[in-house]
Amino acid sequence: MLAAYAVTADADDPLEALRVDQIEPPAVPDGWIEVSVRAAALNHHDVFSLRGVGLPADRLPMILGCDAAGVTSDGREVVVYPVVGDPLFGGDDETYDPRRSLLSERYPGTLAEAVRAPARNVVAKPAELSFAEAACLPTAWLTAYRALFTSADLRPGDTVLVQGAGGGFATAAVSLARAAGLRVWVTSRTPERAERAVALGAHAGFASGERLPDRVDAVLDSVGAATWSHSINSLRPGGRLVTVGTTSGPDLPNAELTKIFFRPLRVIGSTMGTRAEFERLLRFLVATGVRPVIDRTLPLADAADGFAAMIDGDLFGKIVLEP
Ligand SMILES: NC(=O)c1ccc[n+]([C@@H]2O[C@H](COP(=O)([O-])OP(=O)(O)OC[C@H]3O[C@@H](n4cnc5c(N)ncnc54)[C@H](OP(=O)(O)O)[C@@H]3O)[C@@H](O)[C@H]2O)c1
Repeated sequence: MLAAYAVTADADDPLEALRVDQIEPPAVPDGWIEVSVRAAALNHHDVFSLRGVGLPADRLPMILGCDAAGVTSDGREVVVYPVVGDPLFGGDDETYDPRRSLLSERYPGTLAEAVRAPARNVVAKPAELSFAEAACLPTAWLTAYRALFTSADLRPGDTVLVQGAGGGFATAAVSLARAAGLRVWVTSRTPERAERAVALGAHAGFASGERLPDRVDAVLDSVGAATWSHSINSLRPGGRLVTVGTTSGPDLPNAELTKIFFRPLRVIGSTMGTRAEFERLLRFLVATGVRPVIDRTLPLADAADGFAAMIDGDLFGKIVLEP
């Protein structure tokens, strides 16, 4: 089958590690279901995989991709919840399972004509969502949903700052936050993407690092090193910084510890979401009419073009691939 997969790791030139070609379809383990992929979506996670982050050489070649929607062999239209848990984990919050992985980390991913997932990970796709829209949701949108409503515990009327405007996570956070009655501010490296975020629903857009008119209740930061100090400085006393990613790198020149304890702030790590949160996210979209922004839709065979746009930061919203 056709798939986009990593054949090696290249920290400096991730496109060198990518192959888009025929690959032997992986076996379907007992208790797993095969889904014929109608649409898959890219995440920055896939770029990190090509750079070798979280994907050791002994797991290569590895089909990339966490997100897909498609059809089961018995004709059900589904979307795949991508967190594969340890069956022995007893807790009810999958993100606390120390042995969890995402599709494409330990098991083959979604950028292919077909993907396999545990039966409990195959969730009914609401008829109101297209395959392309549903395929955008499992990683970026689920992470934004949990970051806003569980990790930051935001309420209607609160103010949230989203660092970065153009990405899949950032556009999801802006759309969900606006629909939930929050005041939404974003930053961006380009005025064009800040303006597009305002058109999407943000109340104001600022240049990266710009001083804000007021302090905020919470910041969602997926950028990491480049925005950390601004995130800390933008919070009101008692505010929450939810960190979900390190697109610009994880090494901080200044962790701002004095401000964190003196204000006093809370720093909260957040990753993906539970299956129950994923089902609530689907219902949220159906109830509100909010839909993912799709930057572009490409044939799976042209996956390299989508990866190049993501590596260059030349996108607004999600990149969808169709087999
Ligand atoms: N913890 C989790 O489970 C989880 C889930 C989803 C995503 N993530 C992480 O979140 C990050 C974003 O993922 P994504 O798929 O949304 O990626 P993406 O679509 O490539 O978006 C990248 C985002 O980062 C901003 N950005 C990049 N470099 C920047 C810099 N140097 N300074 C300021 N802003 C910068 C961009 O904003 P502008 O271009 O508008 O400035 C854009 O919003 C990744 O690190 C990813 O691994 C984590």
